[in-house]
This record gives sequence, C-alpha cells and structure tokens, in this order.
Amino acid sequence: MTVKIAVLPGDGIGPEIVNEALKVLDVLNKKFALNATWQEATIGGAAYDAEKDPYPKSTQSLVHSSDAVLLGAVGGVQWEALEKPLRPEAGLLRIREDLGLFANYRPAKVYDQLLDASTLKAEVVQGVDILVVRELVSGIYFGQPRGFEVVNGERRGYNTMAYCESEIRRIARKAFEAARLRSNKVCSVEKANVLEVSELWREIVIDVHQNEFSDVALSHMYVDNAAMQLIRNPKQFDVIVTGNLFGDILSDEASMLTGSIGMLPSASIGEKFAMYEPIHGSAPDIAGENKANPLATILSVAMMLRFSLNREDLAEKLELAVENTLDAGVRTVDLANGAASVSCSEMGDAVCKTLEALA
Ligand code: IPM
Ligand code: MG
Repeated sequence: MTVKIAVLPGDGIGPEIVNEALKVLDVLNKKFALNATWQEATIGGAAYDAEKDPYPKSTQSLVHSSDAVLLGAVGGVQWEALEKPLRPEAGLLRIREDLGLFANYRPAKVYDQLLDASTLKAEVVQGVDILVVRELVSGIYFGQPRGFEVVNGERRGYNTMAYCESEIRRIARKAFEAARLRSNKVCSVEKANVLEVSELWREIVIDVHQNEFSDVALSHMYVDNAAMQLIRNPKQFDVIVTGNLFGDILSDEASMLTGSIGMLPSASIGEKFAMYEPIHGSAPDIAGENKANPLATILSVAMMLRFSLNREDLAEKLELAVENTLDAGVRTVDLANGAASVSCSEMGDAVCKTLEALA
C-alpha cells in the first residue's frame, strides 16, 4: 500500500530541515520497503509570496487528500508588517484549525549522549522523558471576541481564553490514553486559582479521570508552579496536559531540558488528519546557512511512521538511527557546546547512513 505525504517546507530553515527528512524517507523507501510518496506545497510566508495567502487553496486540497502532513516551519521578519490574516503564523493556525488537529503531542526526552548540551545540571535532566499534550485548536489562540478597540481615548487590545466542556474532555482523554502507554501519570496544568476557564478545565479533567481513567495517577498544577517545577525537578513529570497558550510556553521550556529546541518533534492529531512538525520555529537568523539541526524534523517523521503510517517497527528503527548517530559523536552546532560540529545536510547524511546500516 502506498502512503501519500503532503510536504510543506515553509519558511526560514524549513526547506533545509525538511530536505533532510525527505532523504530519510527515501532510505525508508529503498531499504525498508516503506512505499511512501510525497508532494510539496507552500505554507506561511512562502505561500504568501507565491499566492498572497499563507494557507492557499492549492495547499488545502493537497493536505485534504494526503495520509499525513510534514511541515517545516513558518515565519520571518519580511512578513511581520503584513496584516495579521496574511502573516505566516495565520497560515499555521488555519491549517491546524482546518484539519481539526486538536491534540498536539510534544515529547521532551533527554538523550544521555546530550547531557552536556543542557544548561541544567546533568543529574537534574538525566532520564527526563516528558510528553506535553497541548490543546491546539481552541483556547486563547482562537477565542472570540478578540481585537483592538479605543476606550477612553486610548487603544485597548483584548483576547478571550475559553474552553467548552467537550474540548477539555477530548484532550484529557488523549492525555490519559498516552499516559497508559508510558508511566501512567498525568499532570493537568492550568490557572484555576484565578481563571474561570481553568476552573472548568480542572473540573472536567477530574470527571474524565474518575469515570474513564481512574487507573492513571492524576495531579493538578498551576502554570506558574509548573514552569518552576520543570526546571527544579523535571523527572517528576510523565504526561503534562494543558491548554493552547500554556502548552506553547511549557513545551519551549521543556525542550531546553533536552539541550536544544532543535531536538523536539511533534505530532498534531485530529479525528481525520495528522500533521508532523518540529516545535522550533523558522530561525531566520541561520536560514540558508546549512547550520540548523534537522533531528527534530527527522524525529517528527518517526512520529508519523508510528501514528499515521502504522509502522511502529520503522519508527523505532529511525529513533535508534538517531541515537546511534549521536553515539557516534555527530553534532550540529546547537548541540556541540563549542566543539566541532557538522552541517544540517551532514547530520541528515549521517542519520541516513546509520539507518541504512540497520536494514
Ligand atoms: C508553536 C509556535 C506557533 C504557536 C507559532 C509559530 C504560531 O510557537 O508551534 O509552538 O504559537 O503555536
Ligand atoms: Mg511555540
């Protein structure tokens, strides 16, 4: 059976890192009989430049007819002055909403090989294996009303953080289900001491837990405390479930436990569609320099193999290939701690070679 992947490189370092992921897919096709085909389309600033729309119809129809989406990154200074709906970030939010990708899985796993790359002490981060489950299509990112108005002669900007019961229920279920396959612990993060939306969040999470997942250990934490605990003692966490904005912030924080944000893959999954992307952005400062770390994108391919293509066997092989590559001492500059480093494409080549050796 052939699988069809929509490939959206996007902006900045997006094309470079996606290119390395495609080399990996090529190896999986040739040496592991994967049978994947892919087709590229634009998103973000690149799509605006081509079609004056950061999520054009052509891209939309491609992703709707694909088995999975692989995305690089969006954004760049040259598009910052555009009206909000035309900016690259609007394209990303629209594709997430359009495909109904409500569950965003962001695993932060510390590799022993990279202990020195973390800014935290090795004993604090060694063995950390956290999964942030972030709600991705609601909360303050999408809440209405939003906008600007003039009040008492000055401008006022406002947004709305809101969740419906059903939205909380479905993301809570995903978190509990994920925990059952890991260390069976969920920490729900909100700000229920201040926000009504969080009060409801906590109530519904407790309800889902009691009725469907009482075998999983559940705890609750306010987001400010969670931000502190992630640095103080990250090993206490297994699965963290949280809303859109808190998940955006905490997943960036969790990524630095691993040494580099360049290591974190993600999967965004809905009822019908799934999209895979590194959690880092488009890094305009190093775009085009062949310096970026492609491992987050390559590890996103592993998540795609696992969740969309039903190839757990190949997902594990690819993750092993990444580990073996790190074991061999291959480092991009973000991981090198000032020592010798390889380019983005050399890292991709190294993973491909290591993967081929596992065939
Ligand atoms: C992420 C990014 C996006 C977000 C931006 C680029 C809109 O930070 O995927 O975490 O805030 O969701
Ligand atoms: Mg983010």
